[in-house]
Amino acid sequence: SDQRKVNEKSKNEQLNEFRTEDHGKKMTTNQGLRVSEDEFSLKAGERGPTLMEDFHFREKMTHFDHERIPERVVHARGYAAHGEFELYESMKEYTRAKFLQEPGSKTPVFVRFSTVAGSKGSGELARDVRGFATKFYTEEGNYDLVGNNMPVFFIQDAIKFPDLVHAVKPEPHNGIPQAASAHDTFWDFVANNQESAHMIMWHMSDRAIPRSFRMMEGFGVHTFRFVNEQGKAYFVKFHWKPTLGVHSTVWDEAQKINGKNPDFHRADLYESIEKGDYPEFELGVQIIDEADEFNFDFDILDPTKIWPEEDVPVKIIGKMTLNRNVDNVFAETEQVAFHPGNVVPGIDFTNDPLLQGRLFSYTDTQLIRLGGPNFHELPINRPVCPFHNNQRDGYGRQTINRGQVSYHNNSLANNTPETSSAEEGGYVHYQEKVDGRKIQARSESFKDHFSQAILFWNSMTDAEKDHIIQAFSFELGKVSNQSVQQQVVNMFANVNLAMAQEVAGNIGVEQPQQASKIANEITKTSPALSQENTRKK
Ligand code: HEM
Repeated sequence: SDQRKVNEKSKNEQLNEFRTEDHGKKMTTNQGLRVSEDEFSLKAGERGPTLMEDFHFREKMTHFDHERIPERVVHARGYAAHGEFELYESMKEYTRAKFLQEPGSKTPVFVRFSTVAGSKGSGELARDVRGFATKFYTEEGNYDLVGNNMPVFFIQDAIKFPDLVHAVKPEPHNGIPQAASAHDTFWDFVANNQESAHMIMWHMSDRAIPRSFRMMEGFGVHTFRFVNEQGKAYFVKFHWKPTLGVHSTVWDEAQKINGKNPDFHRADLYESIEKGDYPEFELGVQIIDEADEFNFDFDILDPTKIWPEEDVPVKIIGKMTLNRNVDNVFAETEQVAFHPGNVVPGIDFTNDPLLQGRLFSYTDTQLIRLGGPNFHELPINRPVCPFHNNQRDGYGRQTINRGQVSYHNNSLANNTPETSSAEEGGYVHYQEKVDGRKIQARSESFKDHFSQAILFWNSMTDAEKDHIIQAFSFELGKVSNQSVQQQVVNMFANVNLAMAQEVAGNIGVEQPQQASKIANEITKTSPALSQENTRKK
């Protein structure tokens, strides 16, 4: 626990080594040379041309010319804050992750909230999914929980992610719309990739226009794995629950706010932290024993499905408090690099095909976004524990590795990995038995795209249902291709016929006359979802 105390402060202390105060300081070049003139460049005579020799001019201009880095390919617009996570209850029974062992222990965190589709300068009240990414700086290394404010996703397999994003981003021939899903290609994607049905119901609901980052839930979405000290594994899903409850805007309000103050969400977060009114989120887990893996009528590795909370209750295990704004948005918020593959001993992956693909994508994109393989050295990305290995060199390398040896095995440096025994603290991949043929198909239940979309609709209040119908009508109303509009209302007749008919009436396409058989059966036999995460508080 001494180590723990160190960690409570150490991220802030570590950042302090990199902070610099320019206020009241004499200006120098980057070489430390005192500057005497910063308004007039050096010229050949009073009315002559500027001279190449003016090193201060050249340095200032060159640095400026290189100030921009690529924005994130998705989640470009975001806002972040520091904080801490405090554990309520030991998770020892389920995981050996150190930061989840001792009640009362605290771990520094950095959280970035984002919209998905819009570019870095887009408005924050767009109808969109919100990113909710948390970096835990644990004494065993960084653990990233890179989630969203909705518990499911549009697609089931990572291979479709570039397609999804191409469909939602501005259309390539005219660059319109800048930040909205109300356009032909997005809805054409939806109608032709019907595993999106459940996510689209969330997307058309009030969850997609949150009142504040402080009033959103967060979800890890995927099924992850906990592994305890004895090597026993459990399936786990992660939830963040805001202590202020979940609140949304209504669409008319959202549009006005976006026009008047496109920075509404970041300003709300920044100001509440400045005032000491700290945003808080409780961490919950749903846990399924390995023995129960196949005891559900859906595949628990399907990221378009939730685990109903009546069947698998959410256990609240700790609380995160965001208590400090960043000093510099570029250095921290923009340069932070989250990655669902950053795990600690006791947390592991499953074969969710969406998660598996994400494990490749994040480092790959960060290599270009952050300019090479050394972005782990950026202050915001450094773990609070030491890091040592034989990786060397690369653009912008800051670490000065001493000594003769940068290879393994060796007899000269004695810098070996931990033994593979878990007691020594080294990460040991869970030895899941994998046995099968190489195929591209998934379980049969991955083909059921509508059951949970129907449960979601059935769990809505009348006002929420109205909002969903209005959202569909607004979004589809902006679609110029009538065949796409028709395909979408036909698709959502499988969720609720009356809803689809009303939308069809509102946008002037043919009303679908019947829902598919499966949809009717489920509506008849399934009770409405009573779980909290599909209801407004
Ligand atoms: C950001 C890929 C699905 C949450 C990103 C980025 C990429 C990416 C390339 C930009 C990262 C950066 O520049 O640092 C993918 C792929 C997915 C996928 C390939 C599916 C195959 C998801 C899902 C979630 C999610 C399911 C939620 C559970 C996020 C968040 C960010 C992000 C929150 C922003 C992180 C930040 O604030 O810096 N994703 N993503 N993504 N993704 Fe995903």
